[in-house]
Amino acid sequence: MALPPSFLDELRARTPLAALIGRRAKLTRSGRDWKGCCPFHNEKSPSFYVYADHYHCFGCGAHGDAIGFVMQTQNAGFMEAVESLAAEAGLEVPRASPEAVAAERRRADLHEVLALAAKSFQARLATSEGRPALDYLLRRGLTDETIRRFGLGYSGGGRGALAADLARESVEPRQLVEAGLMKQAEDGRLIDLFFGRVMFPIRDPRGSVISFGGRIMGDGQPKYLNGPETALFSKRRTLYGLDLAKPELARRGKQGGPGRRQGLVVVEGYMDVIALSQVGFPAVAPLGTAITTEQMDALWQVDERPVFCFDGDSAGRKAGRRAIGLALPLLTPERSLGIVVLPQGEDPDSVVGKRGRQGMAEELQRDDLGSAIYGLIKDEVGPLSPEGWAQLRNRLDETARTIPDRALADTYRAALRDRWYQDRRQASGAFPGMPRAGGGGFAPGRKGAAPRPVPIGPRPHMSPQSRDAERGRVLLAILLTHPQLLPDLEEAFEMLDLPEPLAQLRDALRTWLEPHPVLDSETLNAHLRRLGYDTIVSAVLEARPLPACAMPDAAPADAAAHWWQIYGFMRGPHIEADLKVAERDFVTEPTEANQRRLIALKESWDRVRRGDMDATP
Ligand code: UTP
Ligand code: MN
Repeated sequence: MALPPSFLDELRARTPLAALIGRRAKLTRSGRDWKGCCPFHNEKSPSFYVYADHYHCFGCGAHGDAIGFVMQTQNAGFMEAVESLAAEAGLEVPRASPEAVAAERRRADLHEVLALAAKSFQARLATSEGRPALDYLLRRGLTDETIRRFGLGYSGGGRGALAADLARESVEPRQLVEAGLMKQAEDGRLIDLFFGRVMFPIRDPRGSVISFGGRIMGDGQPKYLNGPETALFSKRRTLYGLDLAKPELARRGKQGGPGRRQGLVVVEGYMDVIALSQVGFPAVAPLGTAITTEQMDALWQVDERPVFCFDGDSAGRKAGRRAIGLALPLLTPERSLGIVVLPQGEDPDSVVGKRGRQGMAEELQRDDLGSAIYGLIKDEVGPLSPEGWAQLRNRLDETARTIPDRALADTYRAALRDRWYQDRRQASGAFPGMPRAGGGGFAPGRKGAAPRPVPIGPRPHMSPQSRDAERGRVLLAILLTHPQLLPDLEEAFEMLDLPEPLAQLRDALRTWLEPHPVLDSETLNAHLRRLGYDTIVSAVLEARPLPACAMPDAAPADAAAHWWQIYGFMRGPHIEADLKVAERDFVTEPTEANQRRLIALKESWDRVRRGDMDATP
C-alpha cells in the first residue's frame, strides 16, 4: 500500500535534515541554510546545500529529501529508508490494515469532494447569481488575479445548490456532510452550511482544499463561518494561506540579496492574508482562534522569525499577549518571532487599503519584540500606582523567565528592565516623594570627596567569584544600613551579576522599595526578616567585619561614594557603556538623580581607566 502523504509529511517534519546529513558530511551555517562538501562526489570547496526540506549539490546535481538521502547513502529501498527514519523519529509506520486502506481511501475521496466544491463555488462567482459577491470582493480592492489565486467563490443561496452541482459528479449528500459542507437540520433534512456567503477555500500546505470559510456580504452575524472539524480539517493545525506563502518564501530565500528578506507575516484574518499577499507580503492567519503550538511549529518550519501583526484593538492586543505566552517558552536562538501591534482601529487589510504596500512596510519596520512585549504587558497591568510599577516589573521579569534559553532570557530581561526604567523615569521625573539621597550632600565629584580605596577584605588569593561575592555583600550591607540611598543606586545595582543568595536579597529590596517612599534601616530590616530573609540579612551584615562606610553611623555621602567605588570594580569595563547611558539620560532629563548617577559613574570610569581597578581587590 502507498503510505499516506500525511504520514510522510509528518516523518519529514520530524527529521531534522541538517542533523541527519551532518552525520555524513561536515556542514556549516550559510544564512538560514547549511552547506558543506558534497558527500556524493569528491570536492574541495563546498557546493552542497542543505535547506529546510531538501538538499542540493550544485556540483554533481545530487538532490533529495531525508528519505532520498538515506536511500542514496545507505543503498536502501524506499520502505527501508522510511522504516529507519521512522524508528529514529519515534513514529510508527502505518500498516496496510483493511481499515487503514479504507480510511485512506475515504480521505482521498473527501479531498476530491472538497476540490469539486471549490470549483463549484468559483464557477458560481462568475454567474449572474454570484455578481454581488464578485462586486463585493472587487469593492474590497481585490484584483481578478488575487481572486483566482486564492480560489475565492460564491456559495449560492442555499437550498441544495451545491449538492445539485456535485450530484453530476456522483458525489452523495452524505459525503458533503463528511466534508463539512452540509448538516442535518432538526427535521432530519440535509441543509447547506454556507449560503449567501463569499467563500474562502482553506487549503493544506500542499494546496489541497480541506475546508472553507464564508463571509457574509453585508452586516450580519456571524460575519465569518468556518467549516467544522473533519477527517481532513483540524483548525488548530491549519494556517490559512500557507500553501501560497511557503513557495513564495522559498523562492525569495534563495534569491538572497542584502539585508533580511521579507519574511512571513502572521495576521488575524482571511482578508488580511489576502490583502498582504496582493501587495507582495507572504502572509498566513490562524482561523479565528488563538495561535497554537502546532501552528508555531509550522511557522518556524518556513521562517525562523515570523512577524506577528496584530489588529489595533483590544482583541488584537489580547491575541498578542496570548501569542507571547505561547511562543516565548518555545524560543531558541534559531527560532524567534517579531510582533507589531497596529495603530488603534487598524488591521493589515485597512493599512494596505489606506497607505498601500509602503504603509504596511513602515508598520512592519516597527517590529521589535522587546517593545511589543513591554507595551502589551504594561497595557494589561493598567494604570500605574507605585504598586503597579512594581507589579509591572515583576510581570516583565516573569515573562522573560519563560524563555528557556538562559542567554536569551537574560537579554530580554535586561532589555525589558531598561524600558521599564526609562518609562518610569519619564512618568515620574526624579521619583517624586522620595527623599533625596544623603539630603543632597552626596556628590562624589566634589573636590576633596573622592573616596579612597575601600579596605574590603583584601585577600590576595581570593577567587574572582568569592571576591565578587564579598563586594556584593558590602554593597548590600551599605543599602541595608542606608536605605535612603536605594532610589538613586537601585538602577545601577540591577546591572550587576550578583551570586545567590545575594541576588535574591536584592530582589526583595527592590520589591520593598516600590511602595515605600519612607526609607529607614530599621523598618527595612524588620520587614526583610519577617519575609524570611533572616539568614541572608545576617550573613550580609555579620559574616565578616564591615568597612566603616557600611556602618549605620557612616555619613550617607561617604557610604554612597564607597558604594559607587565598589560598584565600579564589579562592573569593570561595562562602566563605559553605563556611562554613555547615564549621559544620554541626563541630557534628556537633567534631574538631580540623573546628575548624581552620571558623576558617580564618571568617577568610576576614570578609576577603571587609571587602572586602580587592578590595584584594589
Ligand atoms: P476579523 O473580524 O478581524 O476579520 O476577524 P477581518 O479579516 O478583518 O474581516 P473583514 O475585513 O471584516 O472581512 C478575524 C478572523 O476571525 C475569524 C475569521 O477567521 C476572521 O478572518 N472570525 C471572525 C470568525 O471565525 N467568525 C467571525 O464571526 C468573525
Ligand atoms: Mn478587516
